Amino acid sequence: SKNIKQALCAVQEGRFFLLYDSDKREGETDFVISATAVTPADVCRMRKDGGGLICVAIGPNAAKTMKLPFMADVVNAAATNPNAKLDIGTVVEREGDIQYDKKSSFSIWVNHRQNRTGIPDNDRAFTINRLGEMTKKTDAGDSVEFASEFRTPGHTATLRAAEGLLDVRRGQTELSIALAMMAGANPAMVVCEMLDDTNGQALSKEDAKNYGKKHGFVFVEGYEVVEAFDLWKSCQ
Ligand code: 5RP
Ligand code: CA
Ligand code: ZN
Repeated sequence: SKNIKQALCAVQEGRFFLLYDSDKREGETDFVISATAVTPADVCRMRKDGGGLICVAIGPNAAKTMKLPFMADVVNAAATNPNAKLDIGTVVEREGDIQYDKKSSFSIWVNHRQNRTGIPDNDRAFTINRLGEMTKKTDAGDSVEFASEFRTPGHTATLRAAEGLLDVRRGQTELSIALAMMAGANPAMVVCEMLDDTNGQALSKEDAKNYGKKHGFVFVEGYEVVEAFDLWKSCQ
């Protein structure tokens, strides 16, 4: 569709687009932009006009090569390892905890080692740009050492897309990575939820669409991405 084409152009050109998952899932719209392209001004827009968490979604293969774990597995390992002596108990994600999905996509929170605090717009943009560049190197088959550039804890959340992508999970994590793949672009995409300043809830679909119109950002829905990705896969 025209929307999808415009979103693919936005991915390639490093511009924002808006991505709604579905009425049956979170019912949230995220800002999305390529990680290598994001600027401090873009980070500023996401925290002021979006207000959600600024995260970097990474494709399944690159995430695996970079050894980015699912946070739930990290916590589980710590909770079940008696030698860790962490006593974090049973806080780990349980089946049924997440009301709209089976598993969260959260991996670790990171700062670039050159960041001071990690939160200013330029720190976050730098961390995100470097995550994008490392993903690109990984995707090209070069060997990378994640810890040579990044440390955890930090102020930028990383998200690990499910292996099997949209067959398995249809969050903005997988939807944004599917779009990056269709665009032939680097599988590292920044996402940030849009919240409504009048009531603190997720911004309504209508309001998100209007924001997009006003600022020239195309609005796409999960089902459009699923449709396009199925078609795209069938001719790969
Ligand atoms: C991180 C989130 C957001 O919902 C983001 O859209 C990615 O998660 P998901 O793939 O579950 O939609 O939880 O702030
Ligand atoms: Ca989520
Ligand atoms: Zn989401």
